[in-house]
Amino acid sequence: MTSFRIQIEGQAADVEADSETSLFAAMTRAGMAWPVSCRNGTCRTCLARLLQGEVRYEIPWPGLSAEEKEAGYCLPCVARPVGDVVIARA
Ligand code: FES
Repeated sequence: MTSFRIQIEGQAADVEADSETSLFAAMTRAGMAWPVSCRNGTCRTCLARLLQGEVRYEIPWPGLSAEEKEAGYCLPCVARPVGDVVIARA
């Protein structure tokens, strides 16, 4: 399985994640805190800005508008990396 690096803007350490693991799950496994509530892509508590890289979603429509996706927002609780990514708190 391919693994990628997740970096959080402003933090020195990064996190390893595979393509089947959500950004939030990978961060949690690495002991990094991130705000979260529903964990299913609806409440938007985990909202983040995707500064670099791409993510994919396994649910058909996570709680983001097309405009927000276009503007580079993502939901780490359900977003899975398709390469190395850099995110920041929204
Ligand atoms: S925790 Fe609810 S959308 Fe991510």
